[in-house]
Amino acid sequence: MKNSYSNIFTFNKKILSKTIKSLKNGGVVGLPTETVYGLGGNAYSKKAVRKIFQLKGRPQFNPLIIHYHNIKDAQNDVVSNKYFEKLYKLFCPGPITFVLKRKNTSKINRYACANLKTVAIRFPKNKIAKAILKKTGFPLAMPSANKSSNVSPVNSKDVHEEFNTKLKIIIDGGKCKVGIESTVIDLTSNPKILRPGVIDKKVIENYLKIRIKTHKNKNKILSPGMMRKHYSPGIPVVINQKKHDGKSAYIYIGNKHKKRKDFFSLSKKNNLFLAASNLYKIFRIIKKKGYKKIQINKIPNFGAGIAINDRINRASKF
Ligand code: TXA
Ligand code: MG
Repeated sequence: MKNSYSNIFTFNKKILSKTIKSLKNGGVVGLPTETVYGLGGNAYSKKAVRKIFQLKGRPQFNPLIIHYHNIKDAQNDVVSNKYFEKLYKLFCPGPITFVLKRKNTSKINRYACANLKTVAIRFPKNKIAKAILKKTGFPLAMPSANKSSNVSPVNSKDVHEEFNTKLKIIIDGGKCKVGIESTVIDLTSNPKILRPGVIDKKVIENYLKIRIKTHKNKNKILSPGMMRKHYSPGIPVVINQKKHDGKSAYIYIGNKHKKRKDFFSLSKKNNLFLAASNLYKIFRIIKKKGYKKIQINKIPNFGAGIAINDRINRASKF
């Protein structure tokens, strides 16, 4: 171990076998994925699943995403369909989650899926997550490794900040490349985006050659992560701000306010993917600096910008 935290480990063979052993015993570990860090446990184990809910303080009605190494493993638990198979071919492993019908014979703990007849599944691309999933022999139920309603962690230290030593193992995989949670798409009937991500609706529509809806009815919770009280940095957030108020932290995209105190650029080169990847990191930095409020400039609403707007919009409702 090369850091000052007793529970953050660099990935190697020794920590891999220690992690597998812990997971087989119903343990829960913090590990990197390409989107955000996850809190992983055996999806077939009631003990592990309960521990995840308890650690996060997550409401029981909010189901977890089940992570697999490949499609063959997933087909033990879900009913496959043509859209799923097409999207899997193009995007997986990668930052997209599919909601599918649960098989009657599935061994996934019912508590993990909040007793629903559907299961959200994902195939992470991160090498560490993949290496672990290859060795477990069971899928991992894995929500983002933050306390319920907080901002997702994008570094191993962020996970430590959330759970301290309540986790015995946090594997360090550096900063998450995508930095924002996966796109969630419901494929149980006509495809519907439940949570926007960097794989955006337009790209999926062009590929499948169909129109896709985005779930917008805020009163009906289809995907409980769409609850408004979510992704909060813990201080008030106001969006679509044209002018700095002189005291708050001000988030924007570009390099117009370079070197000005209180100004934080999500991407100096106006790259929306980079902007998405920096959002949670910058939220945490601002909070640590002691600011009382965050103002955010208007963010372009296309591509990865749609996912950014989704998250900051929710953060502003806190
Ligand atoms: O990028 C990600 O997806 C990360 C990494 C760790 O994989 N995970 C993540 O998990 O964001 P979590 O638990 O923070 O968010 C899961 C989302 C929630 O919005 C949840 O309501 C939704 O997926 N979900 C899970 N199962 C579902 C289901 N059966 N039907 C509809 N939505 C579901
Ligand atoms: Mg989450």
